[in-house]
Amino acid sequence: MDKMIIHGGVALRGTVALSGSKNATLPIMMASLLTADPVIIGNVPRLRDVRTAVDLLVRLGVQARWIGEHELELRAREICSHEAPYELVKTMRASFVVLGPLLARAGRGRVSTPGGCAIGARPVNLHIAGIRALGARIQLRNGYVEARAPQLCGARVWLDSPSVGATENIMMAAVLAKGTTLIENAAREPEVQDLARMLVAMGARIEGAGTHVIQIEGVERLHGAQHRVIPDRIEAGSLMIAAAITGGDLMIEDAPADQLAAVIDKLREAGVEISAHNCGLRVTSKAPLRPVELRTLPYPGFPTDLQAQMMALLTQSSGTSVITETIFENRFMHAPELLRMGADIMMKGPTAVVRGPSHLSGAPVMATDLRASMSLILAGLTADNETEVSRVYHLDRGYEALDAKLRSVGARIDRVPA
Ligand code: EPZ
Repeated sequence: MDKMIIHGGVALRGTVALSGSKNATLPIMMASLLTADPVIIGNVPRLRDVRTAVDLLVRLGVQARWIGEHELELRAREICSHEAPYELVKTMRASFVVLGPLLARAGRGRVSTPGGCAIGARPVNLHIAGIRALGARIQLRNGYVEARAPQLCGARVWLDSPSVGATENIMMAAVLAKGTTLIENAAREPEVQDLARMLVAMGARIEGAGTHVIQIEGVERLHGAQHRVIPDRIEAGSLMIAAAITGGDLMIEDAPADQLAAVIDKLREAGVEISAHNCGLRVTSKAPLRPVELRTLPYPGFPTDLQAQMMALLTQSSGTSVITETIFENRFMHAPELLRMGADIMMKGPTAVVRGPSHLSGAPVMATDLRASMSLILAGLTADNETEVSRVYHLDRGYEALDAKLRSVGARIDRVPA
């Protein structure tokens, strides 16, 4: 298991490019199951989770071929297995969204429930309730969801919470159903919108993606398509925070400013200077950082996937910041590791109180999940001495060539085998 070694204190300067969005790529890959034609997906990030998704799709009978560094061709001529096994789904819970496409295309599926992960229990009850509403017969047995649906029928589905994965799963089940489906209280994330664009390119009839009500008119069949995945807004936010925490000056190419409004506002409130340019967002941070109050919310609110990174930044703010995590029940796993570096953080339930500025000093720290690993790297970029982040396989799930990108703008960071 590799480690990252970071020597802090360098203000990052220069231009850095974004990879394609992990959280858009994964459901879009699963959509390939919905047609026997080839689909070509561009701007695919080379990530551990993408490899896992390819493994799962190939196991189901999909032919997968990289036709460029970041271009992937997938073709599900026929579905030869209907099972998404535990060993794959537990490593990447996004696999669970194969259920909808499997039912839509083949009328059956046996998908392992993902189980919990470091940040929470991650139930799938909303996925199951929604797909049941479309007429699937579902039972839970031996940790697997066993579903059959000779013909899915459109229905009105209310989501108790605007779950991203449930919205995506139900949408993919509905595109080949008979009749109209309404998903109400749907997730509005850009990744849901990107999936809808891909499905429409394949011949689906979808309206309202990006709003709380998505309407899907079922069609007989879908055809192949080409689609370029949107840039990764969470990587963009992570790099903006890297500029801020090091007092640097970064241009983040093609940063999707329209998808980052809550993040831009919060960083500006903290004293970070952000300007929009044709080529992207320029982020500089010269003045001392100010404390803020932060609540994570479903899109378009402040994204939970940037909470850990903001916590690292706020350890450098002059004053007391309050972070409230409203999406996941256990997403402060990075805090104890930040404390080891000298941060001043008090946690109580879903709230963390961060006092600063703290003088951070490098230490051996351990990544516990994807975004926590980024938080620790950000802290290392401003800490004195050497920070060693272990278990960077977490990082590899969601950041492509991160150390190379950071080195290209001056960071002293190296990846070493453990
Ligand atoms: C997606 O996960 C993202 N992953 C997550 O990003 C992101 O944090 C999350 O959405 C919220 O924005 C992908 O897109 C692959 P949810 P997902 O269903 O779909 C509860 C990252 O770091 N819930 O919107 O699993 C759930 O427990 C990852 O890139 C139910 O109760 O998130 C959570 O508290 C981490 N029942 C809340 O909803 C359900 O059936 C949000 O979950 C489903 C979810």
